[in-house]
Amino acid sequence: MSEIGKNVSIASTSIIGNNVILRDGVIIEDNVTIGDNCYIDYNTIIKQNVSIGSDSFIGANSILGEVLMDFFDDYTEKSHPLVIGEHALIRSGAILYGDSQIGSHFQAGHRVTIREKTKMGSHVTLGTLSDIQGDCIIGDYVHMHSNVHVGMKTTLKDYVWVFPYVVFTNDPTPPSETLSGVTVEKFAVVCTGTVVLPGVHIGQDALIGAGTNLTKDVPEMSIVVGNPGKVIGSVTKIKNEKGEQVYPWRYSFDRGMPWKGCDYDTYIASKMN
Ligand SMILES: CC(C)(COP(=O)(O)OP(=O)(O)OC[C@H]1O[C@@H](n2cnc3c(N)ncnc32)[C@H](O)[C@@H]1OP(=O)(O)O)[C@@H](O)C(=O)NCCC(=O)NCCS
Repeated sequence: MSEIGKNVSIASTSIIGNNVILRDGVIIEDNVTIGDNCYIDYNTIIKQNVSIGSDSFIGANSILGEVLMDFFDDYTEKSHPLVIGEHALIRSGAILYGDSQIGSHFQAGHRVTIREKTKMGSHVTLGTLSDIQGDCIIGDYVHMHSNVHVGMKTTLKDYVWVFPYVVFTNDPTPPSETLSGVTVEKFAVVCTGTVVLPGVHIGQDALIGAGTNLTKDVPEMSIVVGNPGKVIGSVTKIKNEKGEQVYPWRYSFDRGMPWKGCDYDTYIASKMN
């Protein structure tokens, strides 16, 4: 049994699952699929060809499947599907464009933007006001805090952490038609306020300190700080308040990670079997 609020519009070609709640003013255009147990809050617009997995929450005043530039040629919507996996929790004011895939258990803060051709794994988090500019590849369990700007052609691999106000740039000689995206390898951490210049490659397990202006590639396991960013040692030298080694963080931190309750090596071994 679904619950439909006032002034809700549902196109006849769309399929709504069981036990779905649509609050007042929700608009659902053609060829939309909404899985079971979803909650779509006030005035959200779900444009054509959007699929939302079961058990998902979409906050008020969001737009899913936003039109691409080809809409403006003749004001007709073209087919640019947006697929959102199950168990999404997308807070109010989100704008997600078509031609993107978002894995399961996605969580977003308020007013995020995800542009077209973004491919995102599962269990990704994206903080309030963050902006993924499109044509990006985001792995599983990537965590981005608030106000992160992810330029086109950025690749963030599995388990990368990105803290507030980080900017991943892409145009080496602006304005130009050249886009050279940043690549961040698994488990790397990019701290608050860092600017990463176009095409830079950040190695696995690296740690980029707060406020770094990162102009060059970073070897794996290195700490880089400053402007311009310079390597100041190995991440293994960083200790917490108790004097314990902190990095690589996967051996000391498990909140929200698939190895919670065991340890990283046991988890990996269990996946091999
Ligand atoms: C990378 C980081 C962990 C380094 O910490 P650390 O190993 O304890 O570094 P130290 O304090 O021993 O500093 C070593 C040297 O690098 C310098 N340094 C450390 N971090 C720096 C930074 N972010 N920018 C510029 N220089 C820095 C220190 O001034 C010191 O220089 P000195 O030897 O000339 O005195 C820390 O700078 C950092 O960025 N922490 C993360 C903060 C953050 O963004 N958190 C997430 C959001 S809350």
